[in-house]
Amino acid sequence: MQNAAYASRNGQTPWPDRILGASGILWFLTAAIGQWIFVYYVAASYIPILAKKGLPGLEETALPDGYVPGDPLGNLAIAFHVLIAIIIIGGGPLQLTPQIRNRFPKFHRMLGRTYLTTAIITSFAGLYLVWTRGVPGGLIGHLAISLDAVLIVSFAAIAVRFALRRDFDRHRRWAMRLFMVVSAVWFFRIGIMFWFLATGGIGINPETFEGPALTVMYFGQMFIPLGVLQLYFYAQDHDSAASKFTAALIVLVATGVTGAGVFAATMGMWLPRL
Ligand code: HEM
Repeated sequence: MQNAAYASRNGQTPWPDRILGASGILWFLTAAIGQWIFVYYVAASYIPILAKKGLPGLEETALPDGYVPGDPLGNLAIAFHVLIAIIIIGGGPLQLTPQIRNRFPKFHRMLGRTYLTTAIITSFAGLYLVWTRGVPGGLIGHLAISLDAVLIVSFAAIAVRFALRRDFDRHRRWAMRLFMVVSAVWFFRIGIMFWFLATGGIGINPETFEGPALTVMYFGQMFIPLGVLQLYFYAQDHDSAASKFTAALIVLVATGVTGAGVFAATMGMWLPRL
């Protein structure tokens, strides 16, 4: 890779690369904290009620159609879907942490297999729910989240393929893309809450949960993070200080938006429901 040649020119990592790397780490730490807060919310709102009341307990949760009498498969799918989210969202940041990957390779492999399998199964459970029970946001909402399921399954397959070929550089990049699309539901929540914080909710109809801002978010939940990640990879691969600084700046802006969105979602959505 060009980057490797550039980095090794004087035996140490040049500072544009260091700044780029530091911006990536800062975003990742912000996102990991935000994802674990979401995991805490999911665990605290679903585990006790499901343990105490079983599937009918879903009626008392924040889910719009959590429990539907006479639909045991749908009720089971939603309970499975939210409980599995704890493993997926909680495990994703651990899986991408290089120190854990390098020091505990067995754990990395085990968590990796669990992450991939559960992400694929829960995407099918999600697809079933979307097309049987529906989600807010009309057809666009249905199509966007279904596209996310397709991306999750495709990226998981590509990441596995490169791991089996022992092409770990490509495996790592596809695993990072997979992390972004698996995290789309989390990006959606923090994105919406950031938008409310920044604009008071311009372009969102709270009655129908539709509107131009929501349409952007339905697709932006996958494509904005993927786009920023691609820019980061591009800057890593190219021997240009300008592209590294530009990418670092964009990642820093993304870190600010992520942090503000996590704050708004925690205070305005997750904590009040607990
Ligand atoms: C693999 C990553 C995913 C994770 C970690 C995840 C996680 C969650 C969580 C935690 C909830 C409960 C929401 C809350 O209490 O605020 C939820 C709800 C739901 N998810 Fe997912 N989800 C994922 C992917 C999907 C996909 C790909 C689909 C559809 C194709 C989907 C469909 C649904 C539906 C229909 C609901 C219930 C209605 C709603 O809250 O929108 N999910 N998901």
